Amino acid sequence: MEAGRRIIRFGLIGCGLMGREFASAAARWCHLTGVDFEPRITAVCDANPEAAKWFVRHVPGVATVTTDYKELLADPDIDAIYCAVPHHLHALLYVDIIRAGKHLLGEKPFGIDKEANEAVMQAIREHPEVLVRCSSEFPFFPGAYRIAKMVREGKFGRIIEVEAGFWHSSDLDPLKPINWKRRIATNGEYGCMGDLGLHVVHLPFRFGWKPQSVRSLLTNVVTERPDALGRMVPCETWDNAILACDVHEAGGNRFPLMLSTKRIAPGHANTWFLRIQGTECSAEFSTKNPKMMASLPYSPGGEQAWRVADVPYVSAYGTITGNIFEFGFSDSILQMWAAFCDELTNGSAMRQPLYCATPEEAADSHRLFTAALESERSGRTVALRWGE
Ligand SMILES: NC(=O)c1ccc[n+]([C@@H]2O[C@H](COP(=O)([O-])OP(=O)(O)OC[C@H]3O[C@@H](n4cnc5c(N)ncnc54)[C@H](O)[C@@H]3O)[C@@H](O)[C@H]2O)c1
Repeated sequence: MEAGRRIIRFGLIGCGLMGREFASAAARWCHLTGVDFEPRITAVCDANPEAAKWFVRHVPGVATVTTDYKELLADPDIDAIYCAVPHHLHALLYVDIIRAGKHLLGEKPFGIDKEANEAVMQAIREHPEVLVRCSSEFPFFPGAYRIAKMVREGKFGRIIEVEAGFWHSSDLDPLKPINWKRRIATNGEYGCMGDLGLHVVHLPFRFGWKPQSVRSLLTNVVTERPDALGRMVPCETWDNAILACDVHEAGGNRFPLMLSTKRIAPGHANTWFLRIQGTECSAEFSTKNPKMMASLPYSPGGEQAWRVADVPYVSAYGTITGNIFEFGFSDSILQMWAAFCDELTNGSAMRQPLYCATPEEAADSHRLFTAALESERSGRTVALRWGE
C-alpha cells in the first residue's frame, strides 16, 4: 500500500508481443486519474532468455528474471500473474498459477482446445479465492464502451440482428513466414477462432446472447508458408471463419448473430467491430475509424437517419487525455488493465461496470468454436445447449 493506493505486484510469464504491451501500460499508469490501485512488475519469465532482456532494460522494478515460471509461483512477494504464452501452454501454466494461489490475467483462448479449457476451469472451481480473468481489450474503446452502456440501458428495443467481427489482413502476403499461430500443435485446431474469437464474443456473451446453434464456414486460404530457412511448410490452421448463429433471448425474441474472425481480410489491419440493429435503435462501432460511432434512434413513423459522431475520449477510467483526442489500441490495453486491477482491489465495488472477460465467457467460446469445427466437418448446423 502506498498513500491510499494498493500496489499489486505482478509476475509476467511470456515476454513477447503482449508481455511488452502490459509493461508499457504499467509504465504509464500516471496516465490514469483517480485510481486507488497500481500494478508493479517485479518478476519476468520467458523460456527464451533473449526475450526477457527488453524488460531488464525498460522496467526498473524487475528483481527476478528467469526461464522457469515456477520460480514466480513460489515467490510470496508476487500477488498476481499476467501470462501471455502460446496456446498449447495455457492449460499447464494457468492451472499451476491458479493452484499456486496467484491471481491471473491470462491471454485468450484459455486453453488450446475444449479439453484444455476444462482443466483450467476445474482449477478455477477449486480456488474461488483467486481472481481469474481473460484478456480482451476492445470493449474498452469509447465507442464500444458506449454501445455496451446502451445495451445495459435497454436502448435497442427488440434486437433484429447483430454482427461482430475481428479482421486482420497481413496473412494475405503468402511470403509472410510461418509462426506458432499458424500451426495446429501450438495454436490449436480452432485456427483464427482461437486466436481472434474471444475478442468477438466477449460483448455478445456479456449481453447474454448465446447461440442455440451455429453453422460455420471455415477457410484456409494460404496452405503453405516459408519457414525461417525459406522452405515451404504446411500452414495448417483456419485463416477465416464465419459463424452464423441463432440466438434466442429469454423473453422469446430470436435473432441472427453473425460472428467473423479473419486473418485474411484484404485492407484490414486490426479491425474489431460491433453492429447492432434493434427496433428502437441501431448502433455501429469499428476500430477502423476509432473516433467514430454511428447510431440510429427510431420511433414508429419517425425518420430513419444515421447519426455519425466523433466519440469523445471518455473511457472506463479517467485519464489525463483531453476529450477531443484520439483513443488507440494501447489505450484499450491500459483501460483493460485498470479494470483487472480495480476488480482485484475493490471486488464488486469496482468503479465502473465493464469487468474483464470471465473464464466462463472463455469456456463458452470454447463450446461455440468446438461446435463450429463440427459444423465445418459435417456441413450441418450444430445445436448448442447451455447450462449443461
Ligand atoms: N489481447 C490481444 O490483443 C492479443 C494480441 C496478440 C496475442 N494475444 C495472445 O497472447 C498470447 C501470447 O501471444 P504473443 O503474441 O504475445 O506471442 P509471442 O510469441 O510474441 O510471445 C510469447 C512468448 O512466450 C514465450 N514462451 C514460450 N514458452 C514459454 C514457457 N514455457 N515459459 C515462459 N515463456 C514461454 C516465448 O518465448 C515468447 O517470448 C497468446 O495467448 C495470444 O493469443 C493477445
